[in-house]
Amino acid sequence: MQALVSSSRRAPAALRASRAFSGSALRAQAMPTEKQPMPKEFKIYRWVKPRRACEEADLQTYTLDLNQCGPMVLDALIKIKNEIDPTLTFRRSCREGICGSCAMNINGQNTLACLCRIDRDTSKDSKIYPLPHSRSAILLSTHFLNPCAVYIVKDLVPDLTYFYKQYKSIQPYLQNDNPPEKGEFLQSPEDRRKLDGLYECILCACCSTSCPSYWWNQDQYLGPATLMQAYRWLADSRDSYGPQRKEKLQNEMSVFRCHTIFNCARTCPKGLNPAAAIAKIKLELATD
Ligand code: SF4
Ligand code: SF4
Ligand code: FES
Repeated sequence: MQALVSSSRRAPAALRASRAFSGSALRAQAMPTEKQPMPKEFKIYRWVKPRRACEEADLQTYTLDLNQCGPMVLDALIKIKNEIDPTLTFRRSCREGICGSCAMNINGQNTLACLCRIDRDTSKDSKIYPLPHSRSAILLSTHFLNPCAVYIVKDLVPDLTYFYKQYKSIQPYLQNDNPPEKGEFLQSPEDRRKLDGLYECILCACCSTSCPSYWWNQDQYLGPATLMQAYRWLADSRDSYGPQRKEKLQNEMSVFRCHTIFNCARTCPKGLNPAAAIAKIKLELATD
């Protein structure tokens, strides 16, 4: 009995000691640790002149402490705009790779700023431009204003009016003159699977603005983003306008300017493959 009593008296003391230890360990963990600043330079394209001015735009340098900033390039841009320079202009909305509005060229690659991690190597700066071939269009513009080129509205914001006009031209919606009498169009699981890898496109324009054929023939070549959507409707078993859709594409320029260089597939931030979709359109046009 004595042994039992003494052992039950010792237990709370041991427990108290272990609690005291874990409490102090937790307190130590909870103490804010002083992180060394990690200054990193961001060199960002600034274009504030009227779009027809034939003047080189500047890269403006901003320095941020990476330990005081979120991990993505969009976090850095928002921090710069909120805390350093409210005139910096860029598009963004969803912050999670869904809306496609934060497409830009980061360290030489077209991508989405919200999905692009900041390179934590502070010895290198980060260079951020608008989607490419906007700038050369501006430089050309005083002498020859190409109405189809991608121009810059301001800083990192390209004017995508013509890109969307091309998208509209492929009639990106279901067309069928014989809808079911009752209910929805039905589709087999196999037919539905044919749309995988196509419907996920968010029309960010990263692929089209990385395509050399699109750079030089934007007025007539539809470019990878629009063509992948053209194929998305050709591949849809519920759509009956395939022949009319193909007829519009059956010419030298709309599709056949694609030289299968695969820049589009390499750059797509959603991991899609527009070049493969274009190859399928070419095959369908060739075998018609
Ligand atoms: S295919 Fe990819 S890169 Fe091209 S518009 Fe769609 S999501 Fe963007
Ligand atoms: S594969 Fe075709 S669409 Fe894609 S980048 Fe090359 S030329 Fe452009
Ligand atoms: S903010 Fe929507 S895709 Fe980046």
